[in-house]
Amino acid sequence: PVALRVALLGCGVVGTQVVRLLTDQADDLAARVGAPLELVGIAVRDTARERPGIDPALLTDDAAGLVARADIVVEVMGGLEPARELILAAIEAGASVVTANKALLAQHGPTLYEAADRAGVDVYFEAAVAGAVPIIRPLRESLAGDKVRRVLGIVNGTTNYILDEMASRGLSFDAALAQAQELGYAEADPTADVEGHDAAAKAAILASLAFHTRVGLDDVACEGITGVSADDMRWAAETGHVIKLLAIAEASADGVLARVHPALVPLDHPLAGVRGAFNAVFVESEAAGALMFYGQGAGGAPTASAVLGDVVSAARHRVLGGKGPVESWYADLPLAPADSA
Ligand code: HSE
Repeated sequence: PVALRVALLGCGVVGTQVVRLLTDQADDLAARVGAPLELVGIAVRDTARERPGIDPALLTDDAAGLVARADIVVEVMGGLEPARELILAAIEAGASVVTANKALLAQHGPTLYEAADRAGVDVYFEAAVAGAVPIIRPLRESLAGDKVRRVLGIVNGTTNYILDEMASRGLSFDAALAQAQELGYAEADPTADVEGHDAAAKAAILASLAFHTRVGLDDVACEGITGVSADDMRWAAETGHVIKLLAIAEASADGVLARVHPALVPLDHPLAGVRGAFNAVFVESEAAGALMFYGQGAGGAPTASAVLGDVVSAARHRVLGGKGPVESWYADLPLAPADSA
């Protein structure tokens, strides 16, 4: 069988692990897909930089040229531009796209999905929410015959680590944040984590999928954890609760509500037991009842695991000549204004 050409955009913590898995598991992946996967190039800004474990011959600074000769484009560069432009070019050239870019999807997801629909190709984004934790596929596929009522997610590991340190060891917010930064959990600019913006992008994606409605970043009411004090934590514990930063998407009488804020979680709720930098998404649906998806929400290898799963799905659909999951934005529920939360 003809090899499927894979282009990688970005070679940071996640990209490096994607290359490792593609290389180490090449035979298994070929067997699972029914055709070999050939990594044809890696687009980076600085081709001269030493990258241990990466074949320098694969590096290129011509991302657009690389996209033009790929069947599957894997975007792990992050940021809005040039990621958006490159993904659109890939779609228009008929390539399948795998992306981990939550910010891009929260802002421009519907435009990208529509372009993909027109071109007859797929966009996969399991790695964009909660890293290794499978939650996109369950919402898009496994629960497609059910009716989701509410999604409650701990989808930012940095803030969960901070809140957990405050709850379990009585640390102040500042001391816990400093620890998170030392351990490398926080994003380069921790604002996106602690102000809830990273979780809000993920909430928009989850709400869109759960309710088949377009929810953008601007539709998500957002409050971070900078105002949570050690006293708040003590008071929560005394009343049988723990404070978690939750991304919440629910169908209310006013329509679909998506919001991110610190919430009092009863100690006997499964989300209360999510410790450290772990992520979890709790889904309540009509027929299935309650489900929880739990695991590592960040980091190179866990995120690469989700990316590779999507690469295999995309490759299988190409081999079989079919199409993967398609968004159906029938918007049966209106969107409640963000400030009505
Ligand atoms: N900063 C994010 C987190 C990384 O802490 O969960 C994953 O998106």
